[in-house]
Amino acid sequence: MPRFRTTDDLDVAGKRVLLRADLNVPVKDGKVSDATRIERLAPTIAGLIEKGAKIIVMSHFGRPKGPDPSQSLRPLVEPLSRAIGGRAVQFAADCVGPEAQRVVDALKPGEVALLENLRFHPGEEANDPDFARQLAALGDAYVDDAFSAAHRAHASIVALAQLLPAAAGKSMQAELEALSAAFENPRHPVMALIGGAKVSTKLDLLSFIIRKVDRLAIGGAMANTFLFAKGRPVGRSLCEADLADHARIILSNAEEDGCDIILPEDAVTAEKLEPGVLTRTVGVHAVPMNAMILDVGPQTVARISLALEASRTLIWNGPIGAFETPPFDRATTAIAKKVAELTRAGQLMSVAGGGDTVAALAAAGVTDQLSYVSTAGGAFLEWLEGRELPGVAALAVD
Ligand code: 3PG
Ligand code: MG
Repeated sequence: MPRFRTTDDLDVAGKRVLLRADLNVPVKDGKVSDATRIERLAPTIAGLIEKGAKIIVMSHFGRPKGPDPSQSLRPLVEPLSRAIGGRAVQFAADCVGPEAQRVVDALKPGEVALLENLRFHPGEEANDPDFARQLAALGDAYVDDAFSAAHRAHASIVALAQLLPAAAGKSMQAELEALSAAFENPRHPVMALIGGAKVSTKLDLLSFIIRKVDRLAIGGAMANTFLFAKGRPVGRSLCEADLADHARIILSNAEEDGCDIILPEDAVTAEKLEPGVLTRTVGVHAVPMNAMILDVGPQTVARISLALEASRTLIWNGPIGAFETPPFDRATTAIAKKVAELTRAGQLMSVAGGGDTVAALAAAGVTDQLSYVSTAGGAFLEWLEGRELPGVAALAVD
């Protein structure tokens, strides 16, 4: 992990602090349906308020192509204000120029403003130095608390960090510390649990992770491709047959690297993916031709649980079954509870991340019982691929 400054290293009293947040939160019918990212930002804002900074929050939202009222950050003013104990949040209807300047100029120490969606300006995604200079004109210091956007080399993340004294916010710091603890100096044995639908989106991740961990359990529809590659019948299951060779290479590399691979031994199958549908649990050598594998069976859950008990560190990304559709949530929930139990007992340091994973942990009711749950999707995956994240590199000091 690179060395970086934290907000403790910045002198912010009476200064204008540009705080890069990730307020790209899920919104349903005009309401924030998961406020985790907003809540995680609150301690950074509270710390800056305490030091008498003027706080200017900036974020992207969605993927607008130019100004688009349906992707405005204005609806986030109220949830943000709630997350910081009901303090007022001013809103600037543009993130640069006279409107932003007017709102920033009116801030007193300890006050908070939110700027309109950065992506309304094409300069943001282009990492345009001019756009970064316009943002920089609004602040005296820069704090990045948006780990979940750190895989984007955008102006408010990369170019801006070079223009002002820069530091990591508290949640960025917590995220980097947790990921480093799991990756750089972990207690062994280290286990990875990787699920999700497609091998194709996780090839790089799997290739990298087998070099890092002592054992890897593969679940989700992804596992079907591995079963298929080993000559098992997968019926009508989701399976990327064209990746069978890749899957075989990953398996043989894992063997060379001394990484034990745990694949499903039994499967919960059905003819349709529908809530409450009739299911059959079978060994993976006996999946019926007309059936789909939709979850791992109890024997596999037991095997994974034993492996967890024998591990000291866990990195988890991706659900184990089609968890949104009960009863195919059983294995994911059982394993989530096991991970929580071992973590509570101090036996396991557990780090999980990725959108679906977080939803699955929430459904199992254990989100706050893991050592660390990342709210990042793409950034978490790129970290697990061993890539340098531009937003992390931009904060590095040497
Ligand atoms: C995310 O939600 O994963 C981040 O905010 C990044 O968003 P993006 O994928 O639109 O760049
Ligand atoms: Mg995304």
